[in-house]
Amino acid sequence: MAQARTSTQRHVEELDLLQDQPRGGDAAEETLDESADPLEESGRTIDSSEDESVDDMVVEDIEKFENSFVGINKRYRLINRIGEGTFSTVYKAEDLEYYKYNNRWDIDERERRKWSSPARAKRSARKPHYVAIKKIYVTSSPIRIFNELELLFDLKNSDSVCPLITAFRHQDQVVAVLPYFQHQDFRDYYKDMKISEMRLYMKSLLTALRAVHNRKILHRDVKPTNFLYNKWLNRGVLVDFGLAEREGTDWQQCNCTLTPEERRYKNTNSVWQQKVAAWDVTPSMPKTDTRSSRRANRAGTRGFRAPEVLMKCTQQTTIIDMWSAGVILLTLLTRRFPFFHSADDIDALLEITTIFGRKKMKEAALLHGQVFQTNIPSYSEYGHSLEKIILWCTGRTDSDKNAPKKELDDEEKDAVAFLYRLLETDPSKRITADEALRHPFITKAYEESEAEDDVVDLVEV
Ligand SMILES: Nc1ncnc2c1ncn2[C@@H]1O[C@H](COP(=O)(O)OP(=O)(O)OP(=O)(O)O)[C@@H](O)[C@H]1O
Ligand SMILES: [Mg+2]
Repeated sequence: MAQARTSTQRHVEELDLLQDQPRGGDAAEETLDESADPLEESGRTIDSSEDESVDDMVVEDIEKFENSFVGINKRYRLINRIGEGTFSTVYKAEDLEYYKYNNRWDIDERERRKWSSPARAKRSARKPHYVAIKKIYVTSSPIRIFNELELLFDLKNSDSVCPLITAFRHQDQVVAVLPYFQHQDFRDYYKDMKISEMRLYMKSLLTALRAVHNRKILHRDVKPTNFLYNKWLNRGVLVDFGLAEREGTDWQQCNCTLTPEERRYKNTNSVWQQKVAAWDVTPSMPKTDTRSSRRANRAGTRGFRAPEVLMKCTQQTTIIDMWSAGVILLTLLTRRFPFFHSADDIDALLEITTIFGRKKMKEAALLHGQVFQTNIPSYSEYGHSLEKIILWCTGRTDSDKNAPKKELDDEEKDAVAFLYRLLETDPSKRITADEALRHPFITKAYEESEAEDDVVDLVEV
């Protein structure tokens, strides 16, 4: 193992990772066009009780890992494989050297100590402690790996972001060690979450996003498998900063940052508009465009990417994550996962057009100096309301015109009002994480928890 820990502190401060030179020169290129399919994400969350049975293939895989990563089994007892993603395999392991170190990262332990007597805390502290070992695939570029670890380190004081405990390198293999966070598989609860539970889920996710965005970091891959949620504790942590970046990285001026007047001026004087004016018809797209194609970071997971990402905005901000949070809420309200399932970027844009209509999409494209055109007749000018989509998806439409009109209930209507603020195609109008936490849909979570406390008080009297 490349790193030896000598102090009793266990933080990445002490690690100097990756002395290797970056391989090839394609790291930036690689991040630019990356977009994972929503179904390519990690498999089901494995419920990791100690007596779980471990598949033979997994046992073999663990053995292979232990043999190739010399020394790992002296520090960790690998128990199971809990995730297999596009960029890594994640294992649950027992931390064999937990007691040798200062474990400031351990929120659960902190909580336990707060509520237990010193003697009890001492007794319970001797129980096994688990970590998640993220084995990052060797095909990932060193720059990307370093980026992920560095951003995690930057976010170490945020309880809603899964902190990095430490990291090791053995030859070209890097592993990140994170606290193991007990959570349930999204697929096991998204179909029957109550609105009050969605509120708590979103509150927890937004708290994490606020912490990340306050540090001017874009997560870029907000989706259910990257937000590990424990519905019994109403607490979640954001994981997977593999695609995250600091706001402003590689920015090039985009029309969306101009004033509306400047943008109007630029658009009316564009080659396209001049053609429109001269021919008085919408010109067709040029067969061969000699201009160099626009380059922008489009990394993320298909179906969760904001319109400005798909439209290659060259000044993307943290607000892109809020769209993805909106897609999660839409998934919960419609009980459809994945809600969007596109094969490529164009498909993804068309899926969004189905809901928001051509007019909105044309406006959204113009914001970034792009022209949006489609000759598919089934896309309507104004799209469909989110209310209607939720009713359709949850089977509350009636083919009988005389039957009473089906409506969302009041709680769902509140959720939809909030959803419109997240799924706003214009990034400058989209709600920020900080504002979202003050939105009535979310603040009601505080009222509900106070009401619950009152009930407990009554019982006690
Ligand atoms: N700290 C943790 N505690 C418990 N489980 C974890 C932890 N970190 C990751 N996992 C599990 O491993 C999965 C994959 O982790 P992560 O998203 O970091 O890897 P990835 O290779 O980038 O995955 P993907 O390509 O699916 O996004 C998660 O969805 C989760 O199920
Ligand atoms: Mg992930």
